[in-house]
Amino acid sequence: MRRLSPCPFLLLLLLCAPFFLSSSSLSTASDTLTQDSPLSVGDTIVSANGDFVLGFFAPNPNSNNHYVGIWYNKVAVLTYVWVANRNDPLADITGTLSLTANGTLVITANDSTVVVWSSTGSSTVGNPVAQILDNGNFVVKDAKDQFFAWQSFDHPTDTLLPGMKFGWNLTSGLNRNLTAWASLTDPSSGPYTLSLDIKGDPQMFLWSGSTQTWRSGPWNGARLSGMPIMNTYRMYFKGQFVQNQHEVYLKYDLKDPSFITRVIVNQTGSTQRLVWLDQPKRWKLFWYAPEDQCDDVSPCGPMGVCNLDDSPICDCVQGFVPKNPTNWALRDGTGGCIRKTPLDCRNGTDGFVLVSEAKLPDTSSSTVDMSLSLEQCRAKCLGNCSCTGYANAYVNGGGCIIWTTQLTDLRVWTSGGQDLYVRVAAADLSEYK
Ligand SMILES: *[C@@H]1O[C@H](CO)[C@@H](O)[C@H](O)[C@H]1NC(C)=O
Ligand SMILES: *[C@@H]1O[C@H](CO)[C@@H](O)[C@H](O)[C@H]1NC(C)=O
Ligand SMILES: *[C@@H]1O[C@H](CO)[C@@H](O)[C@H](O)[C@H]1NC(C)=O
Ligand SMILES: *[C@@H]1O[C@H](CO)[C@@H](O)[C@H](O)[C@H]1NC(C)=O
Ligand SMILES: *[C@@H]1O[C@H](CO)[C@@H](O)[C@H](O)[C@H]1NC(C)=O
Ligand SMILES: *[C@@H]1O[C@H](CO)[C@@H](O)[C@H](O)[C@H]1NC(C)=O
Ligand SMILES: *[C@@H]1O[C@H](CO)[C@@H](O)[C@H](O)[C@H]1NC(C)=O
Repeated sequence: MRRLSPCPFLLLLLLCAPFFLSSSSLSTASDTLTQDSPLSVGDTIVSANGDFVLGFFAPNPNSNNHYVGIWYNKVAVLTYVWVANRNDPLADITGTLSLTANGTLVITANDSTVVVWSSTGSSTVGNPVAQILDNGNFVVKDAKDQFFAWQSFDHPTDTLLPGMKFGWNLTSGLNRNLTAWASLTDPSSGPYTLSLDIKGDPQMFLWSGSTQTWRSGPWNGARLSGMPIMNTYRMYFKGQFVQNQHEVYLKYDLKDPSFITRVIVNQTGSTQRLVWLDQPKRWKLFWYAPEDQCDDVSPCGPMGVCNLDDSPICDCVQGFVPKNPTNWALRDGTGGCIRKTPLDCRNGTDGFVLVSEAKLPDTSSSTVDMSLSLEQCRAKCLGNCSCTGYANAYVNGGGCIIWTTQLTDLRVWTSGGQDLYVRVAAADLSEYK
């Protein structure tokens, strides 16, 4: 166990000897807590590789509120990556984090009777230890076992570290999402949350309270459809999307483990990836969203297309015209567009217009069939009178997404997007555009 406050040299013998004695009597490694070695305010434990520290901290100089958190040990700018009791501060300058006999972590106030916070969702373990791992995960496990009875990675705060799962355990209903701090000095839950929505084809949404402020688009095999910049990430990060009957999650791993990066939601609702620069020593903004007008959720409404390179930014998909031409002319595109010519489903004359370099429209109510080719996808869409459009689920070929609702939150880029096919009546197929 490492003491945070160094002992003044002259007082060393008199005052500090007892601490050293009690510290050295502990047989545990300095990355571990046991039942017999609770962590007090001022103590810390450090991961074996020295990268992460866990201890109490008080972010607001005008308050006694203490929190148990994890921060980087080797990053010169104090940066918290996890907070245990963000909404349950220890309103005191003394207190402890301890491990109960069954493996529950508890934060208690100084008199040890008031439990301020305890870990939830833990399974019972016989001989529990709590350990801060090299990747920043704080875990509870049996001393002789590798199974985690509880882990901080399952209860993220505002930060996604390499190796963390972002998303759902479908069995337990656990939803790992990121919620911003309320302010720079207050880690309590603020209004902004980034969460994986598993309806339809899964996508991330950034929420401000109950309002959606940004949509990532679905995973398209190579990247998230709304993040073409991820194409340029491959040399640094390995992005992954996993979907099976037990779990749905996104995560990223580092190709170069010495690289320091994190994804956060900041206090004003910006989702961002930051990277640590050694020279000069600071965090650099690598990517953020929402970034531009087309990142708003559906600025051009149903069947509208947002294109930053156009002025005005809203256009209609070929075969559609503005629903409310007055508002459209006044640069309010949110009303979207309507068909020029009704579909002719039963006669089988409908066709498709290609929208290339697209961010796929909202997939919340689309259906995916990974067994279909693009040709089969087209046939499936034509065969269903409610089908409004289709696309390959994976950009490198394969899989079929079908929409049977209006297409919303559609945007295009000059490059980095993907092909989307929108159903229109035969009369609107060949129009000059
Ligand atoms: C400690 O606990 C006592 C009650 O047991 C309380 O009165 C006091 O404010 C607490 N804090 C400190 C710093 O002693
Ligand atoms: C562990 O013990 C605490 C009391 O010390 C209790 O509140 C908690 O529910 C127990 N947890 C499990 C998983 O049994
Ligand atoms: C998901 O939750 C279930 C039930 O709590 C648990 O048994 C399982 O290990 C969890 N899966 C993962 C991958 O964490
Ligand atoms: C984020 O996760 C928490 C804990 O699982 C959950 O209570 C909350 O509803 C989630 N928020 C969103 C927007 O998904
Ligand atoms: C959040 O990030 C955005 C984009 O970089 C920035 O403009 C804003 O100032 C940040 N907010 C805070 C509270 O740091
Ligand atoms: C099908 O074609 C016939 C003849 O061209 C036309 O009268 C009819 O309106 C079409 N049906 C639909 C649903 O458009
Ligand atoms: C059309 O597709 C939707 C969504 O997949 C489905 O619910 C509906 O049953 C289909 N209709 C027909 C006639 O196949």
